[in-house]
Amino acid sequence: MTGTAPAALDVHDIAKSFAGVEVLKGISATARRGDVISIIGSSGSGKSTFLRCINLLEAPDRGRIIIGGEELKLRASRKGSLEAADRKQLERLRTGLGMVFQSFNLWAHRTVLENVIEAPVHVLKMPRREAIEKAEALLAKVGLYDKRDAYPAFLSGGQQQRAAIARALCVDPAVMLFDEPTSALDPELVGEVLKVIRDLADEGRTMLLVTHEMSFAREVSSHVMFLDKGRVEEEGPPDQVFGDPKSARCREFTRSLGGRGATA
Ligand SMILES: Nc1ncnc2c1ncn2[C@@H]1O[C@H](COP(=O)(O)OP(=O)(O)O)[C@@H](O)[C@H]1O
Ligand SMILES: [Mg+2]
Repeated sequence: MTGTAPAALDVHDIAKSFAGVEVLKGISATARRGDVISIIGSSGSGKSTFLRCINLLEAPDRGRIIIGGEELKLRASRKGSLEAADRKQLERLRTGLGMVFQSFNLWAHRTVLENVIEAPVHVLKMPRREAIEKAEALLAKVGLYDKRDAYPAFLSGGQQQRAAIARALCVDPAVMLFDEPTSALDPELVGEVLKVIRDLADEGRTMLLVTHEMSFAREVSSHVMFLDKGRVEEEGPPDQVFGDPKSARCREFTRSLGGRGATA
């Protein structure tokens, strides 16, 4: 453990309202390098909004975001929320955050390989040849090397999500943000995506993972946050949050989803 190294990601007191309803009431999280933080909670508790605020896909009303020790410069926008004060800094810091969504979000008119090299070539200005080499290695790693020239529509949901993970990894993000990466998949395809995520966890990738796969979260996480109505209702090591939760709501939630979930 490098005691003095800055956290890979440090977010403080994120708050967000939609039309006067406060859906995040001050959420903080710190991920040291290699941490896997699972975020669980019922639908509508604010999990996606929290992840989206971290890379400013959603504008937070309040809070601080520090990525690899560098604080994202924020200022009040005309709408009353916060916005990036320095677009260039935002773009740069965003490449440190790889986001994977429930709904894959691949470019339909580009091949798998073209999807994966898009950000390295256009955002990072990596030479095309180098990006292709890197993309092919990542596609091999997620088991899709032979699909590199296929279009997304010809892939299964599990393959599309693995391609989306390779795409997110291709800019070498310091932190991966997963928002229910397996929720849109047919049950028989969940395992192959969880396996890729588990491999990343085993390699020491830092990640925040919103998931309903409780047994998976219990196994791979170093820390679990249970969100309820926009607050962190309970958090701690997985064995505590799942095995001996202090909060009645958390107990109810983890019991209701009890043995749920595939394993990788
Ligand atoms: N763009 C939006 N406009 C208005 N309300 C939103 C928007 N995004 C999310 N919400 C509301 O914020 C709350 C939290 O949503 P969300 O973060 O998606 O929860 P979760 O991911 O935990 O299911 C919900 O009540 C949702 O309806
Ligand atoms: Mg969500």
